[in-house]
Amino acid sequence: MPTALHVGQKGFEAFLAKEAGSPLEKGPGWVLSQEARQDLCFAHLSLLEPAVFEAPTANALAGKIADFFLETSRSERYEAPWPLCFEAAGAEGLSARARTVEKAFLEKTSRMARVMKLAEQGRPGPGESRGLFVHFVDFKRAFASRRAFGGGQRRMADDAQAPSRSYLKVEEAYLVLGEAPAKGQSVVDLGAAPGGWSFSAAKRGARVLAVDNGPLKGGAAEHPLIEHRAEDAFKFKPAQRVDWLFCDLLEEPRKALDLLRRWVEAGWCRRFVVNLKFGRNDPLPLLREARGLETLCRALKARHLYHDREELTLTGILKP
Ligand SMILES: C[S@@+](CC[C@H](N)C(=O)[O-])C[C@H]1O[C@@H](n2cnc3c(N)ncnc32)[C@H](O)[C@@H]1O
Repeated sequence: MPTALHVGQKGFEAFLAKEAGSPLEKGPGWVLSQEARQDLCFAHLSLLEPAVFEAPTANALAGKIADFFLETSRSERYEAPWPLCFEAAGAEGLSARARTVEKAFLEKTSRMARVMKLAEQGRPGPGESRGLFVHFVDFKRAFASRRAFGGGQRRMADDAQAPSRSYLKVEEAYLVLGEAPAKGQSVVDLGAAPGGWSFSAAKRGARVLAVDNGPLKGGAAEHPLIEHRAEDAFKFKPAQRVDWLFCDLLEEPRKALDLLRRWVEAGWCRRFVVNLKFGRNDPLPLLREARGLETLCRALKARHLYHDREELTLTGILKP
Protein backbone atom coordinates (compact mmCIF):
# COMPACT_ATOMS: atom_id res chain seq x y z
CA MET A 1 0.00 0.00 0.00
CA PRO A 2 1.59 3.37 -0.97
CA THR A 3 2.00 5.84 1.86
CA ALA A 4 2.86 9.51 2.07
CA LEU A 5 4.30 11.77 4.72
CA HIS A 6 2.53 15.10 4.34
CA VAL A 7 4.19 18.15 5.86
CA GLY A 8 2.22 21.32 6.50
CA GLN A 9 1.88 24.17 8.96
CA LYS A 10 2.19 23.33 12.65
CA GLY A 11 -1.24 23.47 14.34
CA PHE A 12 -3.17 22.43 11.19
CA GLU A 13 -2.34 18.70 11.22
CA ALA A 14 -5.95 17.75 12.10
CA PHE A 15 -7.17 19.27 8.81
CA LEU A 16 -4.19 17.80 6.97
CA ALA A 17 -5.06 14.32 8.32
CA LYS A 18 -8.70 14.67 7.27
CA GLU A 19 -7.76 15.85 3.82
CA ALA A 20 -5.04 13.21 3.30
CA GLY A 21 -7.31 10.35 4.42
CA SER A 22 -6.34 7.14 6.25
CA PRO A 23 -3.93 8.73 8.74
CA LEU A 24 -1.56 6.26 10.38
CA GLU A 25 0.25 8.69 12.65
CA LYS A 26 0.55 12.42 13.10
CA GLY A 27 2.66 15.01 14.91
CA PRO A 28 3.21 18.78 14.89
CA GLY A 29 2.99 19.81 11.23
CA TRP A 30 3.03 16.31 9.73
CA VAL A 31 0.75 13.38 8.93
CA LEU A 32 1.69 9.90 7.77
CA SER A 33 -1.12 8.62 5.58
CA GLN A 34 -1.82 5.24 4.05
CA GLU A 35 -2.85 6.92 0.80
CA ALA A 36 -0.33 8.75 -1.38
CA ARG A 37 -2.64 11.62 -2.39
CA GLN A 38 -1.06 14.63 -4.04
CA ASP A 39 -2.06 18.26 -4.48
CA LEU A 40 -3.51 18.69 -0.99
CA CYS A 41 -4.44 22.12 0.31
CA PHE A 42 -2.90 21.68 3.77
CA ALA A 43 0.30 19.92 2.62
CA HIS A 44 3.31 22.03 1.74
CA LEU A 45 5.38 19.00 0.82
CA SER A 46 4.34 15.35 0.45
CA LEU A 47 7.04 12.68 0.62
CA LEU A 48 5.72 9.84 -1.54
CA GLU A 49 6.25 6.24 -0.42
CA PRO A 50 8.82 7.21 2.20
CA ALA A 51 11.12 4.88 4.10
CA VAL A 52 11.59 5.43 7.82
CA PHE A 53 14.99 5.53 9.52
CA GLU A 54 15.72 5.35 13.22
CA ALA A 55 19.08 5.72 14.95
CA PRO A 56 20.30 7.13 18.28
CA THR A 57 22.90 9.57 16.88
CA ALA A 58 23.03 12.11 14.06
CA ASN A 59 25.96 10.27 12.49
CA ALA A 60 24.18 6.91 12.51
CA LEU A 61 21.04 8.48 10.99
CA ALA A 62 23.15 10.16 8.28
CA GLY A 63 24.76 6.78 7.53
CA LYS A 64 21.39 5.07 7.07
CA ILE A 65 20.08 7.86 4.85
CA ALA A 66 23.31 7.84 2.80
CA ASP A 67 23.01 4.05 2.31
CA PHE A 68 19.39 4.50 1.19
CA PHE A 69 20.46 7.21 -1.24
CA LEU A 70 23.35 5.14 -2.68
CA GLU A 71 21.16 2.06 -2.98
CA THR A 72 18.33 3.88 -4.78
CA SER A 73 20.79 5.80 -7.00
CA ARG A 74 22.24 2.73 -8.70
CA SER A 75 19.77 2.74 -11.57
CA GLU A 76 19.48 6.53 -11.65
CA ARG A 77 20.99 8.93 -14.21
CA TYR A 78 21.88 12.37 -12.87
CA GLU A 79 22.11 14.82 -15.77
CA ALA A 80 20.35 17.88 -14.33
CA PRO A 81 20.08 19.68 -10.97
CA TRP A 82 17.99 17.74 -8.44
CA PRO A 83 16.45 18.80 -5.11
CA LEU A 84 18.05 17.80 -1.80
CA CYS A 85 15.74 18.73 1.04
CA PHE A 86 16.37 18.07 4.74
CA GLU A 87 13.64 19.49 6.94
CA ALA A 88 12.07 19.27 10.38
CA ALA A 89 9.09 20.75 12.15
CA GLY A 90 7.77 20.66 15.66
CA ALA A 91 10.16 20.32 18.59
CA GLU A 92 12.68 23.01 19.33
CA GLY A 93 16.13 22.12 18.07
CA LEU A 94 14.86 19.63 15.49
CA SER A 95 15.78 21.92 12.55
CA ALA A 96 19.34 22.11 13.91
CA ARG A 97 19.33 18.31 14.10
CA ALA A 98 18.25 18.14 10.44
CA ARG A 99 21.10 20.47 9.45
CA THR A 100 23.65 18.38 11.41
CA VAL A 101 22.46 15.17 9.75
CA GLU A 102 22.48 16.86 6.34
CA LYS A 103 26.12 17.93 6.87
CA ALA A 104 27.12 14.38 7.86
CA PHE A 105 25.15 13.01 4.88
CA LEU A 106 27.07 15.31 2.52
CA GLU A 107 30.38 14.08 3.94
CA LYS A 108 29.32 10.44 3.54
CA THR A 109 28.26 10.95 -0.08
CA SER A 110 31.24 13.15 -1.08
CA ARG A 111 32.71 10.35 -3.20
CA MET A 112 29.71 10.75 -5.53
CA ALA A 113 31.16 14.17 -6.42
CA ARG A 114 29.58 14.44 -9.90
CA VAL A 115 26.07 13.60 -8.59
CA MET A 116 26.34 15.73 -5.47
CA LYS A 117 27.52 18.76 -7.46
CA LEU A 118 24.10 18.77 -9.13
CA ALA A 119 22.20 18.77 -5.80
CA GLU A 120 20.18 21.93 -5.08
CA GLN A 121 19.58 22.27 -1.35
CA GLY A 122 16.14 23.39 -0.16
CA ARG A 123 12.43 22.93 -0.89
CA PRO A 124 11.52 21.80 -4.39
CA GLY A 125 9.23 23.93 -6.59
CA PRO A 126 5.54 23.15 -7.16
CA GLY A 127 4.56 19.74 -8.53
CA GLU A 128 6.18 16.33 -8.42
CA SER A 129 9.96 16.07 -8.39
CA ARG A 130 12.66 13.48 -7.97
CA GLY A 131 15.53 13.98 -5.58
CA LEU A 132 16.11 13.23 -1.93
CA PHE A 133 13.59 14.47 0.62
CA VAL A 134 14.15 13.91 4.33
CA HIS A 135 11.82 14.97 7.12
CA PHE A 136 12.61 14.61 10.83
CA VAL A 137 9.66 13.84 13.08
CA ASP A 138 11.82 13.56 16.19
CA PHE A 139 15.51 13.49 17.10
CA LYS A 140 15.96 9.80 16.38
CA ARG A 141 13.53 9.26 13.51
CA ALA A 142 13.33 10.60 9.98
CA PHE A 143 11.35 9.73 6.86
CA ALA A 144 13.14 9.82 3.52
CA SER A 145 11.89 9.45 -0.01
CA ARG A 146 13.09 9.92 -3.58
CA ARG A 147 9.82 11.43 -4.86
CA ALA A 148 7.87 14.35 -3.47
CA PHE A 149 5.02 16.66 -4.37
CA GLY A 150 5.52 20.35 -3.57
CA GLY A 151 2.52 22.62 -3.08
CA GLY A 152 4.60 25.71 -3.92
CA GLN A 153 4.27 27.34 -0.48
CA ARG A 154 7.23 29.42 0.63
CA ARG A 155 8.15 32.13 3.11
CA MET A 156 8.24 35.44 1.21
CA ALA A 157 10.31 38.58 1.65
CA ASP A 158 8.47 41.67 2.88
CA ASP A 159 8.54 45.08 1.18
CA ALA A 160 8.86 48.12 3.47
CA GLN A 161 6.32 50.02 1.33
CA ALA A 162 3.65 47.30 1.54
CA PRO A 163 0.89 48.52 3.88
CA SER A 164 -0.03 45.09 5.30
CA ARG A 165 1.29 41.59 6.01
CA SER A 166 -1.38 40.34 3.57
CA TYR A 167 1.05 41.43 0.85
CA LEU A 168 3.09 38.30 1.59
CA LYS A 169 0.10 36.04 0.84
CA VAL A 170 -0.53 37.30 -2.65
CA GLU A 171 3.21 37.22 -3.43
CA GLU A 172 3.25 33.55 -2.32
CA ALA A 173 0.08 32.81 -4.32
CA TYR A 174 1.87 33.84 -7.55
CA LEU A 175 4.42 31.06 -6.92
CA VAL A 176 1.65 28.50 -6.45
CA LEU A 177 -0.08 29.63 -9.64
CA GLY A 178 3.15 30.07 -11.61
CA GLU A 179 2.14 33.54 -12.82
CA ALA A 180 2.10 37.10 -11.47
CA PRO A 181 0.43 40.28 -12.70
CA ALA A 182 2.44 41.94 -15.45
CA LYS A 183 2.88 45.46 -16.79
CA GLY A 184 -0.26 46.73 -18.49
CA GLN A 185 -2.57 44.03 -17.08
CA SER A 186 -5.79 44.92 -15.25
CA VAL A 187 -6.65 43.89 -11.69
CA VAL A 188 -9.80 44.24 -9.58
CA ASP A 189 -8.98 43.91 -5.88
CA LEU A 190 -12.09 43.28 -3.74
CA GLY A 191 -11.56 44.00 -0.04
CA ALA A 192 -8.38 45.85 -0.92
CA ALA A 193 -7.68 48.00 2.14
CA PRO A 194 -5.13 48.85 3.40
CA GLY A 195 -3.72 47.82 0.01
CA GLY A 196 -1.08 45.08 0.29
CA TRP A 197 -2.40 43.06 -2.65
CA SER A 198 -3.06 46.18 -4.76
CA PHE A 199 0.46 47.41 -4.05
CA SER A 200 1.91 44.01 -5.05
CA ALA A 201 0.19 44.19 -8.47
CA ALA A 202 0.91 47.89 -9.03
CA LYS A 203 4.62 47.49 -8.28
CA ARG A 204 4.70 45.03 -11.21
CA GLY A 205 3.14 47.66 -13.47
CA ALA A 206 -0.49 46.40 -13.46
CA ARG A 207 -3.44 48.83 -13.23
CA VAL A 208 -5.57 48.18 -10.15
CA LEU A 209 -9.14 49.02 -9.16
CA ALA A 210 -9.08 48.72 -5.37
CA VAL A 211 -12.61 48.19 -3.97
CA ASP A 212 -13.08 48.74 -0.24
CA ASN A 213 -14.81 51.24 2.03
CA GLY A 214 -11.64 51.46 4.09
CA PRO A 215 -8.69 53.70 3.18
CA LEU A 216 -5.54 52.61 1.34
CA LYS A 217 -2.28 53.19 3.17
CA GLY A 218 1.52 53.14 2.74
CA GLY A 219 2.75 52.42 -0.78
CA ALA A 220 -0.82 51.82 -2.02
CA ALA A 221 -2.18 55.28 -1.08
CA GLU A 222 -1.75 57.74 -3.95
CA HIS A 223 -0.07 55.10 -6.14
CA PRO A 224 -0.53 56.29 -9.75
CA LEU A 225 -1.60 52.80 -10.95
CA ILE A 226 -4.16 52.25 -8.15
CA GLU A 227 -7.67 53.70 -8.30
CA HIS A 228 -9.62 53.44 -5.05
CA ARG A 229 -13.39 52.83 -5.15
CA ALA A 230 -15.34 52.99 -1.88
CA GLU A 231 -17.94 50.38 -2.89
CA ASP A 232 -19.45 47.10 -1.73
CA ALA A 233 -17.50 44.18 -3.24
CA PHE A 234 -20.66 42.09 -3.63
CA LYS A 235 -22.34 44.76 -5.80
CA PHE A 236 -19.28 45.57 -7.90
CA LYS A 237 -19.32 44.56 -11.60
CA PRO A 238 -16.35 45.22 -13.92
CA ALA A 239 -17.00 47.27 -17.09
CA GLN A 240 -15.06 44.61 -19.03
CA ARG A 241 -13.20 41.36 -18.42
CA VAL A 242 -10.09 41.92 -16.27
CA ASP A 243 -6.82 39.96 -16.23
CA TRP A 244 -6.95 39.33 -12.48
CA LEU A 245 -9.53 39.13 -9.74
CA PHE A 246 -8.07 39.52 -6.24
CA CYS A 247 -10.41 38.95 -3.33
CA ASP A 248 -9.43 39.07 0.33
CA LEU A 249 -12.70 39.95 2.05
CA LEU A 250 -13.19 39.89 5.79
CA GLU A 251 -16.48 38.06 5.25
CA GLU A 252 -18.08 34.66 5.70
CA PRO A 253 -16.03 32.34 3.40
CA ARG A 254 -19.09 30.85 1.68
CA LYS A 255 -20.15 34.33 0.62
CA ALA A 256 -16.68 34.99 -0.79
CA LEU A 257 -16.76 31.62 -2.60
CA ASP A 258 -20.19 32.45 -4.10
CA LEU A 259 -18.78 35.75 -5.26
CA LEU A 260 -15.86 33.94 -6.94
CA ARG A 261 -18.26 31.50 -8.61
CA ARG A 262 -20.27 34.44 -10.00
CA TRP A 263 -17.11 36.01 -11.45
CA VAL A 264 -15.91 32.74 -12.94
CA GLU A 265 -19.28 31.78 -14.45
CA ALA A 266 -19.70 35.26 -15.96
CA GLY A 267 -16.11 35.17 -17.28
CA TRP A 268 -15.35 38.55 -15.68
CA CYS A 269 -11.69 37.63 -15.01
CA ARG A 270 -8.93 35.55 -16.61
CA ARG A 271 -7.16 34.56 -13.39
CA PHE A 272 -7.87 34.85 -9.69
CA VAL A 273 -6.37 34.83 -6.23
CA VAL A 274 -9.05 34.50 -3.55
CA ASN A 275 -8.56 34.10 0.17
CA LEU A 276 -11.25 32.29 2.20
CA LYS A 277 -11.21 32.89 5.95
CA PHE A 278 -12.58 29.74 7.58
CA GLY A 279 -11.77 30.87 11.13
CA ARG A 280 -12.61 28.16 13.65
CA ASN A 281 -14.81 26.17 11.27
CA ASP A 282 -13.90 22.93 9.51
CA PRO A 283 -12.54 24.03 6.10
CA LEU A 284 -13.00 20.62 4.42
CA PRO A 285 -16.62 21.14 3.20
CA LEU A 286 -15.60 24.58 1.90
CA LEU A 287 -12.63 23.04 0.13
CA ARG A 288 -14.82 20.41 -1.54
CA GLU A 289 -17.18 23.11 -2.74
CA ALA A 290 -14.29 25.23 -4.04
CA ARG A 291 -12.96 22.26 -6.03
CA GLY A 292 -16.29 22.24 -7.88
CA LEU A 293 -14.90 25.22 -9.83
CA GLU A 294 -12.36 22.89 -11.45
CA THR A 295 -14.64 22.31 -14.46
CA LEU A 296 -14.41 26.02 -15.35
CA CYS A 297 -10.69 26.40 -14.70
CA ARG A 298 -7.57 25.32 -16.54
CA ALA A 299 -5.65 25.38 -13.27
CA LEU A 300 -7.28 25.53 -9.86
CA LYS A 301 -5.14 25.26 -6.79
CA ALA A 302 -6.29 25.44 -3.19
CA ARG A 303 -3.47 26.01 -0.74
CA HIS A 304 -2.96 26.71 2.91
CA LEU A 305 -0.10 29.11 2.32
CA TYR A 306 2.94 29.53 4.53
CA HIS A 307 1.58 33.05 5.26
CA ASP A 308 -2.04 31.91 5.75
CA ARG A 309 -3.44 31.44 9.25
CA GLU A 310 -7.06 30.23 9.66
CA GLU A 311 -7.70 30.79 5.98
CA LEU A 312 -6.89 29.22 2.65
CA THR A 313 -6.11 30.63 -0.76
CA LEU A 314 -7.54 29.66 -4.14
CA THR A 315 -5.67 30.47 -7.33
CA GLY A 316 -6.86 29.69 -10.81
CA ILE A 317 -6.75 30.38 -14.52
CA LEU A 318 -10.05 30.23 -16.39
CA LYS A 319 -10.55 28.03 -19.42
CA PRO A 320 -10.53 30.20 -22.57
C1 LIG B 1 -8.00 41.31 5.33
S1 LIG B 1 -8.49 42.84 4.78
C2 LIG B 1 -7.78 42.93 3.19
C3 LIG B 1 -6.30 43.14 3.21
C4 LIG B 1 -5.74 43.45 1.85
N1 LIG B 1 -5.80 42.29 0.96
C5 LIG B 1 -4.32 43.91 1.93
O1 LIG B 1 -3.46 43.30 1.30
O2 LIG B 1 -4.05 44.91 2.58
C6 LIG B 1 -10.19 42.62 4.47
C7 LIG B 1 -10.91 43.83 3.87
O3 LIG B 1 -12.19 43.42 3.43
C8 LIG B 1 -12.99 44.58 3.43
N2 LIG B 1 -14.38 44.18 3.23
C9 LIG B 1 -15.16 43.36 3.99
N3 LIG B 1 -16.40 43.27 3.45
C10 LIG B 1 -16.40 44.06 2.32
C11 LIG B 1 -17.36 44.35 1.33
N4 LIG B 1 -18.59 43.83 1.37
N5 LIG B 1 -17.02 45.17 0.32
C12 LIG B 1 -15.76 45.70 0.26
N6 LIG B 1 -14.81 45.45 1.17
C13 LIG B 1 -15.12 44.65 2.20
C14 LIG B 1 -12.68 45.21 4.77
O4 LIG B 1 -13.01 46.58 4.76
C15 LIG B 1 -11.16 44.96 4.87
O5 LIG B 1 -10.45 46.11 4.47
